[in-house]
Amino acid sequence: MRITEKEKNIEFLRQGFILYDAHDLVEAVGSVADMRDHYTYGHSIRVGNASQKMAELLGLSSHEIENIHLAGHLHDIGKVALPDSILFKQEKLSLQEFERIKEHPVTGYRVLCKLKGFERISLYVLHHHERYDGKGYPEGLKGPDIPLGSRIISIADAVDAMLSDRPYRKALTIEKVIEEVEKQKWKQFDPELVTLFLDEIDILTPYFSRDKVLFQPKLSGD
Ligand SMILES: [Fe+2]
Ligand SMILES: [Fe+2]
Repeated sequence: MRITEKEKNIEFLRQGFILYDAHDLVEAVGSVADMRDHYTYGHSIRVGNASQKMAELLGLSSHEIENIHLAGHLHDIGKVALPDSILFKQEKLSLQEFERIKEHPVTGYRVLCKLKGFERISLYVLHHHERYDGKGYPEGLKGPDIPLGSRIISIADAVDAMLSDRPYRKALTIEKVIEEVEKQKWKQFDPELVTLFLDEIDILTPYFSRDKVLFQPKLSGD
């Protein structure tokens, strides 16, 4: 039996195993951000699992699918550094307060980039609020310059938020969410990912269910 080129790449394998071992811890740490706000309970788990499914449907490598899965779980971890006065504010946020909220992808990146094997994951977290039209943050990246993992998480994040009750509005219906996602094609979202989302809506909708969390099987190193 011969060993493959991939098997020879010890660094690649090592990173795969780190991610495999890290999953449960990552999912738990990601949920800490949700716990600060009961309206977002389960949000990070759903975003991680839905992002993973989208990455699978795109036919990405198992290693990349797992990077996206874990980045989805961790995308808002930087929010733990925000004071309650901003996070729970019912009134309109001041410009300064909004600027503070906009720091959370950078805070998340700064925490995660220190971890060996989390290089891609930290980048996906850093850019999860970029927009396809370049009007997002923190760097205003445009189109394909935004890492694919971040573009995927961006859709999963927005869809899950729209399907959640908020203090100022009720959850949107799935029909309304579909309409909103379509409207944001080329604007907030990657047009190809919008097409994938709409084509595979029947497969993807259960991942946003509040009744039961759809867990993805864990992947081992590719
Ligand atoms: Fe997970
Ligand atoms: Fe976020």
